[in-house]
Amino acid sequence: MFERPLVKAAAAAAACALVLTACGDDGGSSGSAAGGGAGEGGEGGTVGVILPDATTSPRWEANDRPLLQAAFEEAGIEADIQNADGDVSKFGTLCDGMINAGVNVLMITNLDSESGSACLRKAKDAGISTVDYDRLTLGGGASYYVSFDNVEVGRLMAEGVQKCLSDDGKTEGVNYVQINGDPTDNNAALFKQGYVEGMKEVTDSGAFRLVGDQTGQWDADVAGTAFEQLFTQNGGKIDAVISANDTMAGGIIARLKANGLNGKVPVTGQDASVEGLQAILTGDQCMTVYKAIEKEANAASQLAISLINGEEGSDLAQDTVPDTVTKQDVPSVLEEPAIIYRDNVKDVIDDGYQKAEDVCTGAAEAACTELGIS
Ligand code: BGC
Repeated sequence: MFERPLVKAAAAAAACALVLTACGDDGGSSGSAAGGGAGEGGEGGTVGVILPDATTSPRWEANDRPLLQAAFEEAGIEADIQNADGDVSKFGTLCDGMINAGVNVLMITNLDSESGSACLRKAKDAGISTVDYDRLTLGGGASYYVSFDNVEVGRLMAEGVQKCLSDDGKTEGVNYVQINGDPTDNNAALFKQGYVEGMKEVTDSGAFRLVGDQTGQWDADVAGTAFEQLFTQNGGKIDAVISANDTMAGGIIARLKANGLNGKVPVTGQDASVEGLQAILTGDQCMTVYKAIEKEANAASQLAISLINGEEGSDLAQDTVPDTVTKQDVPSVLEEPAIIYRDNVKDVIDDGYQKAEDVCTGAAEAACTELGIS
């Protein structure tokens, strides 16, 4: 299911050839671009990256940062990777700082489209190329968008929740709720589009009934509280929860536990986080969606190379995603997500995304032994 290491090595070699840089040496390619002007420092150019926060998902610091760093290093690009900590004004300060430092490419994961667009506009005015990383900035006009097929991510959640229910013999008379991501994140809308689509047949037939639809704002507590309210409103008759990521699933599972219902009500998730995988192994969570961030990071670095080289369009950006504000199609790289249940948690670990020593602890240890995860 996953890309073989050999293929990755070949792709990295191709990237090295492209920028004619000394791949393999340390090349001074890590650290901060803060002191360097455009083209200084990194032999292949400089890129500034702004990640959104460190709490709505562990992925940003645990996976995206090191994988982006590694991808840029291999390509001989100097990268300054910063985190806005969920703070719009810090995001703006980081954006201004990177533009003033003269990065060649600015890559952002926005906190919302408005502040994201303001940053992208300033970069453009300064002659800096831009890439939307993971989240599309509506109205932002970035040169490229690199992400996953996010509608498909949502469809996989719908598929997963139906599978977990039918494994328990439940195929009708099902009440379910949707706990959505933060409405400021365009991805939250795409995920929702996917799971609404995936649930259409069973809701149209009357077998399933949507009895609650709330945002959990990518926050465990907000999601837990939203779930608890819906649970009370529905007199405790909720049979399944579509949660748009693992962080929110954690908050919902805590509420199910408090009601003695964990393991009895399938909950979905996304990100294949350590916490999410552990909850799947212990039977508290039905599934997660694994997005191989290494592919996303590699694509981002390749696009940065083409922009640094002044190329118009990259062969890599074969997809397009509509920007509903500018009404233009943004050239995109969209990677494929994968569905993870208890019996294939091992794939995520074999792929090197999470470590067995982190996942196989506490209550998850026994399942790891049973499933040969080490
Ligand atoms: C990302 C998800 C993440 C969420 C919260 C989304 O834009 O695609 O992977 O769980 O943000 O950080």
